[in-house]
Amino acid sequence: MSLLVTGIGELVTNGPDGDGPLGIQHDAALVVEDGVLTWVGARRNAPACDARIDVEGRAVLPGFVDSHSHLVFAGDRAGEFSARMTGVPYDGGGIATSMAATRGAPDDELRSLVAARVEEMRRQGTTTVEIKSGYGLTVADEARALRIACEFTTETTYLGAHVVPPEWRGDRAAYVDLVAGDMLAACAPHARWIDVFCEPNSPHAFDEAESRRVLAAGVEAGLMPRVHGNQLGPGPGVRLAVEFGAASVDHCTFLGADDVAALVDAADTTVATLLPGVEFSTRSPYPDARKLIDAGVSVAIATDCNPGTCYSSSMPFMIALAVREMRMSPAEAVQAATRGGAKALRRSDIGRIEVGAKADLCVLEAPSHEHLAYRPGVPISRVLGEERWV
Ligand code: NIG
Ligand code: FE
Repeated sequence: MSLLVTGIGELVTNGPDGDGPLGIQHDAALVVEDGVLTWVGARRNAPACDARIDVEGRAVLPGFVDSHSHLVFAGDRAGEFSARMTGVPYDGGGIATSMAATRGAPDDELRSLVAARVEEMRRQGTTTVEIKSGYGLTVADEARALRIACEFTTETTYLGAHVVPPEWRGDRAAYVDLVAGDMLAACAPHARWIDVFCEPNSPHAFDEAESRRVLAAGVEAGLMPRVHGNQLGPGPGVRLAVEFGAASVDHCTFLGADDVAALVDAADTTVATLLPGVEFSTRSPYPDARKLIDAGVSVAIATDCNPGTCYSSSMPFMIALAVREMRMSPAEAVQAATRGGAKALRRSDIGRIEVGAKADLCVLEAPSHEHLAYRPGVPISRVLGEERWV
């Protein structure tokens, strides 16, 4: 069954055949067959198809790639958020609260919470999401989180090194042994990636030596590394991510000149994933996206959707924040939310509209991509992905 999409006001391809860095095409059409794009080009040359959809002048973009989320959790931390808005700083300590709620939730409850969050993301144009564990922090609870995450995405990340849980606070080294040993063994079959909250500025997270140990064990077990780094202050996260050839180092809020230079050198390998919803929700200074982009760093943006630092699943909201608060152009922000996210997940079949790519499409209730930032909250009229409209 072939489907022809016509009436596209602006087609953002992210490819070489079009205008500007977004590869924008006008008067374009595309054909979808079995969830794959089989033809993209000028409407007048479009082939005959079994069915046709006219999107009546709306902009069509690659579906958003949300390359960083923590969707497997129960409960919320609204009280912590309110306290933060009156000046209480974020230090990662609240992760233990979500951990307790998550451990206490039955499988079916966790599964339906994740399903609801994934659906919320899809309605806002996200067609690929990475999901981390990290609120279980026992062998059984981390493995359970990843088994549930696997029901929703192939981009699953083992984050046993999120924080040291309360029962291990007297013996951090033993917890790191567990994360790099039995917990990794139980989780690796259900994960593609390994991540660590490398943050010497938090008493709950992991320092350079601990992070190095966890990442090395993960790589040894066949997982690919990514890192939470430089979120709460300067630190070794970026350096470590580059050293390990990580696909992404995420947050990048506090960077020194050395970090930026390392990211420039590693631009083919390591993406700096910026999470502006975190700065919004923790009332922190935003990362200097302008400096990173101008220097030649590869940049992505993602939601980091989690109950502590950013309880938002909305990539359009992140795009609006990136433009307004981080001085990215609308085109840069859209690219970071699509092609940037794909690169941060080492995927070439998503984040672009070209023949052979997955037919993951997002149709805006607007004529151009600029409206995502210009008209914050602009509706997404349709999402095509996994062969279904929602
Ligand atoms: O990416 N920084 C570490 N992890 C999450 C926050 C998790 C939480 O506070 O529950 C983040 O910001
Ligand atoms: Fe995170």
